[in-house]
Amino acid sequence: MRDAFLVFGAPLIEEAEINEVVASMRSGWLGTGPKVARFEEDFRGYVGSAHAVAVNSCTAALHLSMVAAGLQPGDEVITTALTFCATVNAIIHAGATPVLVDVDPVTMNMDAGQVKASITDRTKAILPVHFAGRPCDMDALCEIAGRHRLKLIEDCAHAIEAEYHGRKVGTFGDFGCYSFYVTKNVAAGEGGMVVTRQEEDAARIKMLALHGMTKDAWKRFGDEGFKHYQVVECGFKYNMMDLQAAIGLHQLRWVESRWPRRKELWNHYGAALDGLPVALPPEPDPATRHAHHLYTILVDPARAGIERDAFLDAMTRQNIGVGVHYLSIPEHPYYRRVFGWRPADYPNAMRIGRQTVSLPLSAKLTDEDADDVVAAVRHVLEGARGAR
Ligand SMILES: Cc1ncc(COP(=O)(O)O)c(C=O)c1O
Repeated sequence: MRDAFLVFGAPLIEEAEINEVVASMRSGWLGTGPKVARFEEDFRGYVGSAHAVAVNSCTAALHLSMVAAGLQPGDEVITTALTFCATVNAIIHAGATPVLVDVDPVTMNMDAGQVKASITDRTKAILPVHFAGRPCDMDALCEIAGRHRLKLIEDCAHAIEAEYHGRKVGTFGDFGCYSFYVTKNVAAGEGGMVVTRQEEDAARIKMLALHGMTKDAWKRFGDEGFKHYQVVECGFKYNMMDLQAAIGLHQLRWVESRWPRRKELWNHYGAALDGLPVALPPEPDPATRHAHHLYTILVDPARAGIERDAFLDAMTRQNIGVGVHYLSIPEHPYYRRVFGWRPADYPNAMRIGRQTVSLPLSAKLTDEDADDVVAAVRHVLEGARGAR
């Protein structure tokens, strides 16, 4: 067993990020400023979108996208039953009603057939999540959105590097939303980004992210002299700090060089865990580029001889940090109480949520770390077999 605990999702931070943060601290410009503007420009260029607006989380990015999409109370937004709670909470905060669909049992992404079947005359938007970094079926979702004139808001929290048929995810819909949370492929501690084609949407999101104050209010303390601002909408406090952008700028510079390392780790796990009594994630579709954000195995107690939660505990005792992405949304009491959702009505998301285990998949992992993860999985499964 390894000596030190392997932290799940630990970011790889280099001297460049540290120096950039120190430079921001020394300059005294900590809040929204020139580094945020540069990060937006670099991100826009990386994704290939017309506009990018930085905010302080992906949750904020999703919320503001839905406000900018013009959702009204009673409007329905179709999303997946297998996602982080933030996806659904953002719909609720925007005043709309979330409608869940089950996932495809193999890809774990929202089932386009069920999206089609869930459309009512109140449906206004579709909110797909590119789960684990695997692109959703964007041909099908774009076709449905186009035919029914629905807004398409992509949750790309796992999928910064992902491409579908040669095009970056996040650029298919009206809005693409990204996370720079500490475990994400580009980590800034906290942070988010919205990309969009429409200049007026970008301008509105920027304004809403800073209290609803008029454009470039952040410059009011700069060397161009004090500028009066006007509050033109009741906005939010969702702006990104230069301190976050200082980290994000360099993380984005590394993004393409770290993706192959996570892909290598993904392939290593695939080869080393093959033949064990757990289900491994399916191979990426060759017509897409998987962002390799999460490596999820499924622990079915009938096959593995161990309950999923016991497996999580046993891995932790082996000093390997693991994750669960995610218990299906209807498993949580709030949603059951308010929307009456039942886990069994979304059977694929329920089964995956009850069996899934995410293994560490950070570019920070050494070959020895990855071998320790594999050894721990083998050890735990062998122990379970021995106990039968
Ligand atoms: C699929 C998904 N959507 C949204 C979010 C929210 O991101 P943030 O923490 O940046 O608000 C996350 C974060 O973990 C996520 O995994």
